[in-house]
Amino acid sequence: MTELLRFSNVRKTYPSGRSVVEALKPTDFTVKKGELTAIVGPSGSGKSTFLSLAGALLTPTEGSITIGGKEISHLSKKEQTALRLNEIGFIFQAAHLVPYLRVKDQIRFIGNLASKDKTATQKQTMYLLEQLGLTDRADFYPRDLSGGEKQRVAIARALINSPSVILADEPTASLDSKRSKEVVELIRAEVVGTERAAIMVTHDERMLDLCDHVYRMEDGLLTKER
Ligand SMILES: Nc1ncnc2c1ncn2[C@@H]1O[C@H](COP(=O)(O)OP(=O)(O)OP(=O)(O)O)[C@@H](O)[C@H]1O
Ligand SMILES: [Mg+2]
Repeated sequence: MTELLRFSNVRKTYPSGRSVVEALKPTDFTVKKGELTAIVGPSGSGKSTFLSLAGALLTPTEGSITIGGKEISHLSKKEQTALRLNEIGFIFQAAHLVPYLRVKDQIRFIGNLASKDKTATQKQTMYLLEQLGLTDRADFYPRDLSGGEKQRVAIARALINSPSVILADEPTASLDSKRSKEVVELIRAEVVGTERAAIMVTHDERMLDLCDHVYRMEDGLLTKER
């Protein structure tokens, strides 16, 4: 299978008083199409920094990041935004839903930003809601949803633009083990056998069986476990 995402010698430091924190030590990493990769590791080890670099939320201090062969590490702010809208689906630990939008509108809103075809967006929104078991919640506001339902809405929202790279930062942190497994299975179903790939940060060892590869982050150093 072919490569989708590549880190070449990527390093990220943050300023910290008069010195710097090396949140990501020089890292080489690749993800192939069709794969689900997990990243585990202790708090503060650099996992979110890594995902934010992969999703063009941060710019590396050194090195090169490519998606589908295209360099993304030196884009302008405007180009980064366009890339995120068209290529990246970000799922955060907390759902971050917009309080005054109904479930279907949370998803449609992003879909309509990414695509001019409103009919197709509407169709895809209803399809994703069905896939996520949310059809009967389509007209609800976030305040009337359970934690698991909110997280599933956030997943639908991340998928509406058909991203080639799905990045999930502890997507199951607020869910019980049954819902967690469902969510990870869903992310897996979105990538296996497709041109897409997903990287998921997780603390939940039980989810690792569902992943094709597991990496461990320790102190800014990423090592492949399998
Ligand atoms: N904006 C920032 N400015 C300065 N230091 C930062 C910033 N963001 C993260 N750091 C530092 O970089 C290191 C890695 O942080 P990061 O958030 O990537 O860790 P993490 O593995 O995601 O942790 P957690 O499991 O708690 O979410 C930490 O030492 C953190 O304090
Ligand atoms: Mg984190």
